[in-house]
Amino acid sequence: MLTLGIETSCDDTAAAVLEDGLIRANVISSQDMIHTRFGGIVPELASRRHMESITVVTREALDQARVSLNDIDLIAVTQGPGLIGSLLVGFSYAKALAFTLNKPFVGVDHMSGHLLSTFLEKDKPSFPFIALIVSGGTTALYYAKSYHEFSLLGRTRDDAAGEAFDKVARLLNLGYPGGPLVSSRAEKGNSSSLSLPRAWLNENSLDFSFSGLKTSVLNYCNNCKASQRHIPVEDLCAAFEQAVIEVLVEKTILAARSSDIDNVVIGGGVSANKRLRSLMSQRCLEEGKKLYLPAPTNCTDNAAMIAFSGLKQFERGIQGSLSEDVFSRSNLGQ
Ligand code: KG4
Repeated sequence: MLTLGIETSCDDTAAAVLEDGLIRANVISSQDMIHTRFGGIVPELASRRHMESITVVTREALDQARVSLNDIDLIAVTQGPGLIGSLLVGFSYAKALAFTLNKPFVGVDHMSGHLLSTFLEKDKPSFPFIALIVSGGTTALYYAKSYHEFSLLGRTRDDAAGEAFDKVARLLNLGYPGGPLVSSRAEKGNSSSLSLPRAWLNENSLDFSFSGLKTSVLNYCNNCKASQRHIPVEDLCAAFEQAVIEVLVEKTILAARSSDIDNVVIGGGVSANKRLRSLMSQRCLEEGKKLYLPAPTNCTDNAAMIAFSGLKQFERGIQGSLSEDVFSRSNLGQ
């Protein structure tokens, strides 16, 4: 069973080919170079670049997998959430392919792709599991009962964690995407040299909030400027990263403990963060939980996870129809 996956929800154009759920090709064309000088994604530029790249990226994935379009049995494509202009490029392209090749296609919720991304690894989780999905657009905790049954346990009330990394990077003029740039500065800093707040919200709350933390970083920088003090960028990055990671880890542990679930999964761009991976591993070990991590390349947006999730839908008999449209917000698990 050959599945072609297509992903254009945000700023990366991606295509992948899976054979019976295993990766044969996974191609990503990054737009970081285009957006970096703006310190964030410019939606119109993102959709235009998707238009230029989609055919080339899909052709590259087919070539790497040594298959032709006619060999493909299923086309799986991200339907939402994301930027509407970006989503429309991949979704319309996939529908056109499905129509002209007379092949089935399925629209996939991008979040379900992240939720199932660890199934692309050798060490696969078993259900049920608790999943922390943490990216530039979302920060959420899910209870996953099967490939198709997810319950949303909590989510951010304001900024996503990745968005907070990107905004702090912009504030410090580090560039875009902010996560890896803040993280590499943080490695050289001392996280306890200054104290930043953690938003735990109510006791037992599984929701998140990162906008207060971001404002604290802004206030700290403004105070430094006002008193003509040098901003200790590396220490500030380390303290900020530690404040985000501690909340992500402890709320995930709380979710696993309170639902009495032994398996924990993480996914989304921020799950590539080394500090998050090591602290989550340490806490899961202490709590007797088993942690499943996607490979760093499968944390950020990719089409292999979309192909996998689409395949699981197709196996249940779900197929897309050409009259369907894209959506900007996910209601997965609600
Ligand atoms: O899942 P993703 O590729 O895209 C969407 O959100 O759609 O996640 C991208 C986000 C960006 O905010 C980026 O700054 C963040 O993931 N990110 C990281 C790291 N790598 C990517 N954040 C912290 N540490 C990292 N190593």
